[in-house]
Amino acid sequence: MGQTLGDIAATLILLSGLAVIVGVVLIRRGDRVWHPRVMLTATVLAALFLVFYLLKWGLYGTTRYVGPEEWRGAYYALLFSHTLLAALNGPLVIWLIYNALKGRFAIHKAWARWTVPIWLYVAATGWVIDLILKRYGESAGGIRF
Ligand code: HEM
Repeated sequence: MGQTLGDIAATLILLSGLAVIVGVVLIRRGDRVWHPRVMLTATVLAALFLVFYLLKWGLYGTTRYVGPEEWRGAYYALLFSHTLLAALNGPLVIWLIYNALKGRFAIHKAWARWTVPIWLYVAATGWVIDLILKRYGESAGGIRF
């Protein structure tokens, strides 16, 4: 069950990253109708990811890295950068949407230049971390069903 929740979460974050790429392509093509729709879909997918991730965390606890020692530093650097930028991404996305809905597109565009790469980094590393822990992870506690 814990593995299933993790797989769902990893799929959702990956889909949200893909939706962001599609949303950027759409606005580059001048599509002001589908750009917001696709970006809001990406936001919902990221929010759903958070729900499944927190559910897994709450029910099954965290997963400890038990892979090769020489990769431990690199793994934790990846995990730290992922977590930090994921926390930053939330307020940035709310700010982006707020400005877009207010019609302040110059501000929206300026912040989007930073937010999009951060979002894509978070999505890609989240997926990579899930793959690493599938191979080299060990449950660090929590309730198991
Ligand atoms: C989190 C969600 C969003 C992200 C990540 C995002 C991202 C972006 C990016 C990267 C650009 C600039 C593309 C370029 O380089 O030319 C852009 C432009 C734009 N976005 Fe968004 N967007 C989001 C949500 C929205 C929403 C909800 C709306 C509408 C209500 C919207 C409307 C626009 C418009 C109209 C532009 C063109 C601005 C201009 O060229 O002056 N966006 N967005």
